[in-house]
Amino acid sequence: MNSHSVISVNSVSNHQDLVIQGDKITSGLQGRIQIPGDKSISHRSLMLGALADGETVIHGLLLGEDPRSTAACFRAMGATISELNSTEVRVQGIGLGNLREPEDVLDTGNSGTTTRLMLGILASHPDRFFTVTGDHSIRSRPMSRVVKPLQQMGAQIWGRKGNSLAPLAIQGQTLNAITYESPIASAQVKSCILLAGLMVDGETTVTEPALSRDHSERMLRAFGAIVKVDPDRISATVVGGATLIGQTVIVPGDISSAAFWLVAGAIVPGSDLTIENVGMNPTRTGVLEALQMMGADIEILNAREVTGEPVADLRVRSSQLRGITLEGSIIPRLIDEVPILAVAAIFASGTTVIKDAEELRVKESDRITVMANQLNAMGAKVTELPDGMEIVGGTALTGAEVDSFTDHRIGMSLAIAALNAAGTTTIHRAEAASISYPTFVETLEGVVG
Ligand code: S3P
Repeated sequence: MNSHSVISVNSVSNHQDLVIQGDKITSGLQGRIQIPGDKSISHRSLMLGALADGETVIHGLLLGEDPRSTAACFRAMGATISELNSTEVRVQGIGLGNLREPEDVLDTGNSGTTTRLMLGILASHPDRFFTVTGDHSIRSRPMSRVVKPLQQMGAQIWGRKGNSLAPLAIQGQTLNAITYESPIASAQVKSCILLAGLMVDGETTVTEPALSRDHSERMLRAFGAIVKVDPDRISATVVGGATLIGQTVIVPGDISSAAFWLVAGAIVPGSDLTIENVGMNPTRTGVLEALQMMGADIEILNAREVTGEPVADLRVRSSQLRGITLEGSIIPRLIDEVPILAVAAIFASGTTVIKDAEELRVKESDRITVMANQLNAMGAKVTELPDGMEIVGGTALTGAEVDSFTDHRIGMSLAIAALNAAGTTTIHRAEAASISYPTFVETLEGVVG
C-alpha cells in the first residue's frame, strides 16, 4: 500500500485499485514531467536489433510489459538482449534469417504490436516452426488482418476461428513479394508485411487508406534496408535481400503517454506542466492538433531531431476547451489517444464527435464501449456510435467505482478524469498502466503536489 493525501494505491488480490480524491485537488497541476520511451519505437528497436548483424544499443527503451514481451520472444529465438533498463540496453543480433526455432510457445502477453509484427518475421523464416499466443485480450484480437496478406505471400499459418485468432502456429517458408492494398490504416499490418518482405526476392509494397505511424519505415532505413515511400499513393515498399546492421537508437518519449498530461494540464484549472522529450513524429501528433483545435494552450519548445525522429518539450496551461469533430485521416494519427481525448471533451463547451474510429473496438479492449460506460458512471454524457462516440461537454463529473478492463490507456484516462471529479474515484485493475507507463502513478503524485 502506497499512500498520498490525494492519491492512493491499494492491492486487491492480484490487482490494484487506484483511489483519487478529486475534491482534494485545490490548486493546479505543476511541474516538469519525464515520460517513458515510445512503445512503438521500443518494440521495433528490439526486433530490428535482434535481426541485425552486430550490436544494437538502445537508450531510453520503454520498460513496460509490452517491450518485455518482445524481448522475451526474441531471446527465446537466439538473440542476446541485456537486462532491460532505460539507460542502455544491448542487443546482440543474430542476422536476418537466423532466428532459432524456439523450444516453447512464444508468449506475447498483452502486446498486439509484438504479435502482429513478429508474425511477419516468423512466417518468412523457412524450415522453422513457431507457436504464438498471448493473454485473454490478445487471444480475442483479430489476426486475419495479418494472416491473410502473409498467406498471399505464401505463408503457412494456422489458428482458431479460421486462422484468425491466437494461439497461432506458423511453419516458416520462403515467401514471395506482393503488393498489398490494406483496407485499414494500421501500422501493425504495414510493418508485419514489410518485415516479411525483408527476406523475399523483389519488392514488397503495402498501400493504406490513410497514413499510419511510419516508425518501421524510418528504422528499417536506419538499419540499412531499402525502403521507398510514396506519399501520393500512401504506400511503403521494402526491397528484399538487404543486410541489417546494428545501430544506436535513442528512443524519444511516447506522445501517447504525454497525452495524459496534456489533457490533465488543460482541464485542471490553474495548471502549468512541461513535458520533456516528447516524440513529435508527424504520424503521431494528431492528439496535439486535436487539443489545439479544442483551444488548449500548448507551447512547443526546444524542437529538435534525435536519431531520425523529431522531438520537443511541450508546455500546457489550463484553458477553456471547446468541442470539435474528429474524423478522416487524422484518426490513425491519434488512434491511441481517443480515450484521453474523450476525457478532454467532457470538460469542453459544446459537443465533440469522434467518427471513423471503429478500430477502437479491437484494441486492448473495446475502447468505445468501455470508455462510454466508465465515463457515464462518473456522470458524463457519452453516446456510443458504431465507429466512435459523441460527448456532450460541460457536465460535472462525480467520483465513482470504475474499471480499466485491464486496458492500460483506459485506466490512465479514467485517472485523469478523476482529477476533475467531485468526491472519490476508485479505478479497479489500475495496474494495467504498467503495459506502457509503469511510472504513471508516481508522476501523478508528483504533479498533484
Ligand atoms: C502500433 C500501431 C497501432 C497502435 C498500437 C501500436 C504500432 O495499432 O494502436 O498501440 O506500434 O505499430 P494499429 O496499427 O493496429 O492501428
